[in-house]
Amino acid sequence: LPVGALVQARKHQDYTILPCVNHLLPYYRPSVMNAFLELVQSKRDPTFPSDLMLLDIREIKLHLLQTLLYKLILSFQKECVLFNVNLDVTSYFNGKKENHNIPGRAYPVVVWDFYKNGCSLRMLNPQAFSLNLWKVMSILQEFFGSMVGANIYLTPPGTQGFAPHYDDIEAFVLQLEGSKYWRIYNPRTEGEFLPQVSSVNLTEEDLGKPVLEVVLEPGDLLYFPRGFIHQASCLPTTHSLHVTISTYQKHTWGNLLKKILPAALEGALQDDVEFRQGLPLNYLEYTGVQHCEKVNAQRKKFIKKINSLIGRLQAYAGIDAAVDQKAKEFMHDCLPPVLSKDEIACSVHGAPTRWENGKPRDVLLDMKGDTEIRMLHVYSPHRLFSEDNRILLSYTVENSRIYHEVEPQSIEIDPELADGMEYLLCAYPEFKTIRSIPCADLEEKVCKFSGIWFCGCHSHTDGSIKESFFMYEPCKFLS
Ligand SMILES: [Fe+2]
Repeated sequence: LPVGALVQARKHQDYTILPCVNHLLPYYRPSVMNAFLELVQSKRDPTFPSDLMLLDIREIKLHLLQTLLYKLILSFQKECVLFNVNLDVTSYFNGKKENHNIPGRAYPVVVWDFYKNGCSLRMLNPQAFSLNLWKVMSILQEFFGSMVGANIYLTPPGTQGFAPHYDDIEAFVLQLEGSKYWRIYNPRTEGEFLPQVSSVNLTEEDLGKPVLEVVLEPGDLLYFPRGFIHQASCLPTTHSLHVTISTYQKHTWGNLLKKILPAALEGALQDDVEFRQGLPLNYLEYTGVQHCEKVNAQRKKFIKKINSLIGRLQAYAGIDAAVDQKAKEFMHDCLPPVLSKDEIACSVHGAPTRWENGKPRDVLLDMKGDTEIRMLHVYSPHRLFSEDNRILLSYTVENSRIYHEVEPQSIEIDPELADGMEYLLCAYPEFKTIRSIPCADLEEKVCKFSGIWFCGCHSHTDGSIKESFFMYEPCKFLS
């Protein structure tokens, strides 16, 4: 990457190039988080030292992702890859973007023929096929607290797959192989800053002068926020393979208010008679768009009344309940966590239970007051909700790697255990003894938590072997 381009990128608050692939690919939480944290902070805090962007990155393990697309294409027949579901074939020629998907399965001979004729391939839900990408995304989703998605793009030399456009997500473009020439443009109007929906395909005439022109080489990471128009094309001499990781779709104050306000209005309608009073006679004669220019006492009084009622809604704003609803949606959107070997070994996923000599072995749990337990996984959000007078624990362990392939997962919690559950949720990542859980007497605690929690093997803590148990991923036992 030319130094000039980096310097140029750093002058802007809103996008930058972060050459940090070696911090992404080891899939090690602190490195990944630091890299992205630096990126996010550099965007938000003008005083953040830009030198931190100059992480040296040329020791790259790109093969981990590079081979993904090829593996997938080679195994099309085995994996049952479908057009529209897993793969899009597109082209952009003479200002016209076309989609060439054929209904049904994507066979290699067909896909490579499109490619040879200048079409771009976009792989959808690639995390369903790549463990490494799934790991990166599940870590990032925990960090951002918002769904993280990805697409992988393969573009032939000398072509462009997509028309200029802007998106409704924060985009992290990671160049894996070959190179690509990117042009980025500022949002054109105030209304296009941080848009809620992506744009239609734009034409060259719609664009001004780019604010960034850069050729990305393997290992470069380009970030740009929602609303920045972009287009990318291959140089005549080489193809391009890149992954775009996205987040923060519909994750705004406005989206949270969409949950708060209707519920607040329901509450106000129930409690406050003023919200239930009838509208004035003939109000249509001085309200509505056709009367919006009018200035008269009736209209003024009407508007004043509406504003007063809107103000009173504040008292009914159930902020926590709305946040819970938003969190519930997020947990449905989430990728499942990637469990470590220890987590598998100490949970139901690695239970030693087996059939041996004509009977099942190692089935019974042996939990005592001193047994230590904790929630299963740091990247697996759990959350307690109150719904229809029931207490539910939502979790993501059983989500699918394909977006919304399974229903939201939750389990009803005995109200007597709710405090104990909250205690463990707050204590994470620490283990807590069953004895210390604040509910019921010891015998009952052991009995109930043995029913809800799974105990397994031994875990190494502080170098010593301790008896410890991860949260049992529950629905199989209880349903
Ligand atoms: Fe885009």
